[in-house]
Amino acid sequence: MPTTALTNSTKTKSPFIGISTPRIKKVSTKPFLKWVGGKTQLLEELKKYIPQDFNRYIEPFVGGGALFFDLAPQKAIINDANEELMNTYAVLRDSVDELIDELSGYVYEKDFYYEMRAKDPSKLSKIERAARTIYLNKTCFNGIYRVNKKGQFNVPIGRYANLTICDEERLRTAHLALQDVVIECDNYMNVLLKYAKEGDFIYIDPPYHPVGKYSDFKRYTKDFFYKEDQVALRKEILELKNRGCFVMASNSYCDFILDLYKDFDIKVVHAKRFINKNASGRGNVKEVIIL
Ligand SMILES: C[S@@+](CC[C@H](N)C(=O)[O-])C[C@H]1O[C@@H](n2cnc3c(N)ncnc32)[C@H](O)[C@@H]1O
Repeated sequence: MPTTALTNSTKTKSPFIGISTPRIKKVSTKPFLKWVGGKTQLLEELKKYIPQDFNRYIEPFVGGGALFFDLAPQKAIINDANEELMNTYAVLRDSVDELIDELSGYVYEKDFYYEMRAKDPSKLSKIERAARTIYLNKTCFNGIYRVNKKGQFNVPIGRYANLTICDEERLRTAHLALQDVVIECDNYMNVLLKYAKEGDFIYIDPPYHPVGKYSDFKRYTKDFFYKEDQVALRKEILELKNRGCFVMASNSYCDFILDLYKDFDIKVVHAKRFINKNASGRGNVKEVIIL
């Protein structure tokens, strides 16, 4: 996993230099990818607990970035351990026209899908790689990102009546929201260690602790997020608080998480989620916001 920031190739200076005078007017937008555990429906709840005033926005498990795109902060650092995802963000930030050109040629057809799925992303250019990620996300079953032990994407094609593979308008607004944003692809701990400072607002949305027998929430990358990772994350949150950061986290509503965060302020909220492998398993489930 690369440990360096995916830098904006057109800029040579740190993206934070001169940032106090924003160069680009950013507008609130929606994620350009579907992402398991996406926070679109919880936005109104989450926004109740965001501090009025903060320095930088840091999201170390960004996924589809529902809160990030909604806030469209001027000063931000986003990270995820998923290399394909973070390459896509970096390409969208730096090369939106080339990305749109590439993606415009992609079609929703079974043979094309399986050819695209079989490609080894490490042999593609950054732009082809990002276009492949967006294409697979739009056309695969339920927009799930799942890889096998070798890291190969293995989700079957999905069935869609209406599908826009290249949503140019959405991509261009996301491109604007990403200007001057630092994009990392690393373990969340390294990113927090490197960037989190007093006055920063940090939204922590890790892989949820599974609640059901079939819960698949952990399978975003070939690396899983275990109980001991949740315990380490709690420790990290306390450390951030001591550093003077504002921290908000989300997780599943279950005994383990309620107990782990019993000394924190916990808000219980409701979200519509897939809760098992059947399509009928979409239910109203409880989740928690931890402050
Ligand atoms: C619940 S999802 C985030 C959803 C996101 N907030 C949204 O609105 O779409 C959790 C993310 O954490 C990432 N992840 C898992 N383990 C990680 C780690 N150790 N460090 C950084 N990111 C990790 C996964 O790739 C996944 O995208």
